[in-house]
Amino acid sequence: MKIFSVKKEIIENKKISAGCYRITFESRKIACMAKPGQFLHIKCSDTYDPLLRRPISIHSVENNVIEILYKVVGRGTGLLSEKSCGDSIDVMGPLGNGFDYQSLVTCHLSPILVGGGIGIAPLYFLARKLVEKYSNVTVLIGADAKHNILCVDKLKKLGCRVKVSTNDGSTGINGTVVNLLKKELSPENVKLKIFACGPIPMLKQINRLVSVYNVSSQVSLEKRMACGIGACMGCIIKVKNGYKRVCKDGPVFDIKEVIWEDL
Ligand SMILES: Cc1cc2nc3c(=O)[nH]c(=O)nc-3n(C[C@H](O)[C@H](O)[C@H](O)COP(=O)(O)OP(=O)(O)OC[C@H]3O[C@@H](n4cnc5c(N)ncnc54)[C@H](O)[C@@H]3O)c2cc1C
Ligand code: FES
Repeated sequence: MKIFSVKKEIIENKKISAGCYRITFESRKIACMAKPGQFLHIKCSDTYDPLLRRPISIHSVENNVIEILYKVVGRGTGLLSEKSCGDSIDVMGPLGNGFDYQSLVTCHLSPILVGGGIGIAPLYFLARKLVEKYSNVTVLIGADAKHNILCVDKLKKLGCRVKVSTNDGSTGINGTVVNLLKKELSPENVKLKIFACGPIPMLKQINRLVSVYNVSSQVSLEKRMACGIGACMGCIIKVKNGYKRVCKDGPVFDIKEVIWEDL
């Protein structure tokens, strides 16, 4: 798998909701290789401060245009949000393994995508790929409040069935995205495949739920990263048969492989 390091001009850095931005840039090399669930390691400033790059998922690839969707949580993402159209963005990627969605047809499984908050970012790219082959893509999106529910209109435009939940009930059902997922599962309906991305407590709840129904599931994990390419061992997690690097062996893992008590 080839990894590129490129410096590109930003086409757009648009605020799409409170604290959330979308950067668009063009890179033919990365676009050709990118798979849903992979990420880019991004240098957030033009100096060595902060020194470390920040991992951000690939949100969309269309022709040679790449989008990332990110939430401002600290210094790096704050600096990224200050960049303007015409400024440069220094990215390394595509990195990580990505979701495995190729076997759905042969196994007759229907995909359900579950995104918590900004966790919807990589799932939109996955949805775009899935709708090319499947007519029954369900996307469940949860957040604390309405203004943090992202991507609904564009997922509906793709033809996905979209359900929404908020903790404060400001839109969709009043509850969590795991409550939405519960409604989709039943002992008779095991012909599903779940792809989830979001905060660890959400993923832990999904793990408990799917172990009851024995539904095949993949999760994208977040861990603080340094090198991003598997060299520093800074992003190790414990799995059933040892240890794995989230940046290189992940960020996508089979839900049964992860030792959830350790996260
Ligand atoms: C594979 C992967 C894909 C990601 N994709 C996206 C994405 O598409 N959009 C997006 O908004 N964010 C994404 N993240 C999270 C993003 O990398 C962090 O929010 C970012 O690195 C924070 O950098 P900062 O300098 O702004 O914050 P810092 O000042 O470094 O930290 C601010 C806060 O964010 C927390 N934080 C920092 N890094 C991470 C991390 N890797 N995971 C969880 N919490 C973290 C810190 O604990 C702290 O509370 C992804 C993370 C990983 C590992
Ligand atoms: S961040 Fe260096 S091995 Fe994962």
